[in-house]
Amino acid sequence: MTDLPTRFRAQAEQCGLHGSPLTAALLYGAADDYDGGGPLRDLLAPLAEDPSGTVPSLRFAGALHRMVLAGRAPALAVHYPSAGGTVGPAGAWPVARRLIEDSGDELAADLQRPVQTNEVGRAAALYGGLLHVTADWHLPIRLLEIGASAGLNLRVDRFTYDLGAGVVLGVPQSAVRLREPWRGTYPPQAPLDVVTRAGCDPAPLVPTDEADRLTLLSYVWPDQLERIDRLRAALRIAAEQPITVEALPASDFLRRELSTPRPGNATVVWHSVVRQYLSREERVEVDALIGAAGERATPDAPLVRLSLEPEKKVQSTFRFLVEMTTWPGGASRLLAECLGHGPPVTWQ
Ligand SMILES: C[S@@+](CC[C@H](N)C(=O)[O-])C[C@H]1O[C@@H](n2cnc3c(N)ncnc32)[C@H](O)[C@@H]1O
Repeated sequence: MTDLPTRFRAQAEQCGLHGSPLTAALLYGAADDYDGGGPLRDLLAPLAEDPSGTVPSLRFAGALHRMVLAGRAPALAVHYPSAGGTVGPAGAWPVARRLIEDSGDELAADLQRPVQTNEVGRAAALYGGLLHVTADWHLPIRLLEIGASAGLNLRVDRFTYDLGAGVVLGVPQSAVRLREPWRGTYPPQAPLDVVTRAGCDPAPLVPTDEADRLTLLSYVWPDQLERIDRLRAALRIAAEQPITVEALPASDFLRRELSTPRPGNATVVWHSVVRQYLSREERVEVDALIGAAGERATPDAPLVRLSLEPEKKVQSTFRFLVEMTTWPGGASRLLAECLGHGPPVTWQ
């Protein structure tokens, strides 16, 4: 297992590359402090053996952000744009270090929380994918999301997709507005008809629950105000359009939902940045359930698997691919490449 400071520095580099200098500064500071035997070593040592997939660095950054958003760290908040801070990242680390010395126990409890996000920008890929499904099948869509978190993207058709040059898709004046999210050859445009939507997650978050909202916000990088604003807006929309995300693992949910084909609907199973969180057994089972349902699909009851998942590291960054497999037939195609949080989505 790679040691914790190395993992923190690798994540810091990613944060620096992808527009969060504040998170980068905090993670570099934490890594140096750990190496130097400072208070971070005591705080983080219990995480040293945690698998990389549980991302201890982002759990740490999220725990700090949670204290700031909850109003429990005013001295640090001046560095956090998400809390109205304007001072910038310089000098944030020494303030965070003092907070850790004073409030280590509180932070230690928050460090145990899993990273739990619901990234609204990924709707830009989902929306385009659903347009492809509509163009292929001309059927109303039954949308099933596995690993849905708070289910915000199940309201994919309630957002505005402002493509530039006066072209606007979705709801023209939604509180969630994705500005010029697409590149490349746009998906075929047609009215989208999502008639059913359902989702599952073993640890669902409830958009109207204050503590759950705090959890979702705390894992967004605090200097990415566009993402924070988008998330806050999507939480408001979710409050107006309640959808329950069932507390189930993907396999249990799909076993039930895909047991019989739905004539007259195109059934779409969507997942974004979920595969790495499934155990090997769960991954195999999910693939088998979708494959078996695909065998039962008919032209009047087609099945589509639509995904946005990381592929592999290229020059210290991941490629995120939007892919689609459709049944009958089981043909797969790459629809687009995008960034981890969604835009820009470059259609093939
Ligand atoms: C990085 S989050 C992505 C959430 C959401 N799909 C998005 O794009 O914003 C990964 C999600 O996978 C969920 N998850 C973990 N194990 C799962 C399982 N066995 N079945 C379904 N979801 C799972 C987690 O609870 C978490 O909400």
